[in-house]
Amino acid sequence: MQIIRDPDALSEALAALREGGGTIAFVPTMGALHAGHMTLVAEARRRADHVVASIFVNPTQFGPSEDLATYPRREATDAAMLEQEGCAILWAPDVATMYPDGPAATVRAAAIGNVLDGAARPGHFDGVATVVARLFDQVRPDIALFGEKDYQQLAVIRAMVCDLALPVEIIGVPTQRDVDGLALSSRNAYLSEEERLAARILPRALGEAAQAISGGAPVEEALDRARTRLAEAGFDPIDYVELRDAETLAPIIALDRPARLLAAAKLGRTRLIDNLPVEPRQTS
Ligand code: PAJ
Repeated sequence: MQIIRDPDALSEALAALREGGGTIAFVPTMGALHAGHMTLVAEARRRADHVVASIFVNPTQFGPSEDLATYPRREATDAAMLEQEGCAILWAPDVATMYPDGPAATVRAAAIGNVLDGAARPGHFDGVATVVARLFDQVRPDIALFGEKDYQQLAVIRAMVCDLALPVEIIGVPTQRDVDGLALSSRNAYLSEEERLAARILPRALGEAAQAISGGAPVEEALDRARTRLAEAGFDPIDYVELRDAETLAPIIALDRPARLLAAAKLGRTRLIDNLPVEPRQTS
């Protein structure tokens, strides 16, 4: 695997991969890789001839009081994991390479990026859309893979690719979880032992609410129960626990189409997010 930090070297390496018509799958990340990231790489390998991954802790998607300075960085371990999984190129630019003139022009995320996490983290999805557009331009992949763990991010990227007619196919990959159900996340490393135990209440509360709603329970009641469980487990603040249209993320009150249950809440200094599908129960 080649580790590349210079845009010209990246262009050359990509041209070499493309010789003979091989397809390229791209997996953008911020590093501190775990088994969730690695399933994206494995799926990328299944779907394309070559895999390019990137590691870039993107400053423009962090708010002023967020964890940019402390975000875990361990490139050597990450590189070894990517190489093991058959990645051809690791694109690891620095901030000056990605933003040589500062934020000269930015991509504004579609309206789907203004709700939920977009409301809790103003500007976050503009930062994500901007860096992903720039990464797509550098790597020019045939397909790019994103995790359902960041469900709204996936929706924002799909909307951007559609609106800007970018020539890349976006693939969503299901969330990988720890044995107790907690979604794998680089930020789980911030949790104390005690917080890590409490954290499993998040997927449990969502699972119970999803089951209750698909079984016909009133939506607001089920959401309130989930909020209460989270508060009792020590989550504070709870940014949102919401049922949304699975495609548009518009609020829904009745389960008359595929829906998604999404939550974000803080445990100590760690902000956790999770989401689950909620399907109307089949009646025969
Ligand atoms: P990062 O948080 O490093 O995540 C990189 C990719 O891994 C994202 O597509 C994310 O959804 C996916 N991922 C993370 N945890 C996962 C899990 N438990 N199961 C499945 N997939 C998981 O998301 C970002 O970086 C950045 O916003 C980025 C897109 C790279 C732009 O800076």
